[in-house]
Amino acid sequence: MTLVDSEYFCKTMAIILDGSIAAASIRTEIAEAVKSSVAKGNRPPGLVAILVGEDGASQTYVGAKKTACDEVGFAGDVRRFAADITEAELMAEIEKINVDETIDGLIVQLPLPKHISEEKVTQAILPGKDVDGFHDINMGKLAKGDETGVKPATPYGITLLMKHYGIDASGKHVVVVGRSNIVGRPMSMLLSAAAPYGNATVTLCHSRTKDLASFTRMADILVVALGKPGFVTADMVKEGAVIIDVGTTRVDDASRKSGWRLRGDVDYDAVLDKVSAITPVPKGVGPMTITGLMMNTLEVYKAKFA
Ligand code: GUN
Repeated sequence: MTLVDSEYFCKTMAIILDGSIAAASIRTEIAEAVKSSVAKGNRPPGLVAILVGEDGASQTYVGAKKTACDEVGFAGDVRRFAADITEAELMAEIEKINVDETIDGLIVQLPLPKHISEEKVTQAILPGKDVDGFHDINMGKLAKGDETGVKPATPYGITLLMKHYGIDASGKHVVVVGRSNIVGRPMSMLLSAAAPYGNATVTLCHSRTKDLASFTRMADILVVALGKPGFVTADMVKEGAVIIDVGTTRVDDASRKSGWRLRGDVDYDAVLDKVSAITPVPKGVGPMTITGLMMNTLEVYKAKFA
């Protein structure tokens, strides 16, 4: 290979930030931690997922969470309820789990049927068991940079993915697109925190941002969580940027048996030659949400069995 060839090679080879590889590696570490705790006579970590109704995507997500529990040696339990469960009945189930000392983590899969308040349910989970990191106490601690809270699972998973691939946010300009309470806003707080995964200068963009592309083009690290497939085009990214694509939207695909495929918020094929690293969709951020959840559960458990 000539020098020109190798320069060309280096310039065009983006690193694919493969969430399934990072997740497998981190889950092996979690499994080892569980094994050594259980060998000392402790019970395994317990994680309960509540699933209400028959939503297809929710069933898939909860199934993947249960499989991850089995892989790492957690006692994973899916509690299923019919879509017509009352809010009071669901709150009573949460209360039972809140006081069960064998259960470290509880998640209620969203969305919930319309007659149940997601806000009320989310806030009913004991903050110490809220391994999704959705509770106001955990969000408040995150906003204050208080490390004793439970971190939001998806943004935490993204920091774990970055760590796995040696991407350091410190001193970089991170642009986050999307201000949801589940991803965009907590992501901006985590990456700007005075913490090993943080110390970035963060700009949070949203639907009212004027001239969005002028911001995304400034990003050393661009995190996109919009739910608009293919929204970020090549002209919107800086040469050599790191792209984290949180979007996972089902789009029609007649070539698939299912009739659909998942597509991210970034036009992957168009930006691939321009960026230094990028998450694919699927198998990018997706597996890291579950890994964040598993890490949160392990951390809650470890605090009791240290
Ligand atoms: N629905 C879609 N994503 C999530 C998630 O991360 N946690 C919960 N509880 N529900 C979801």
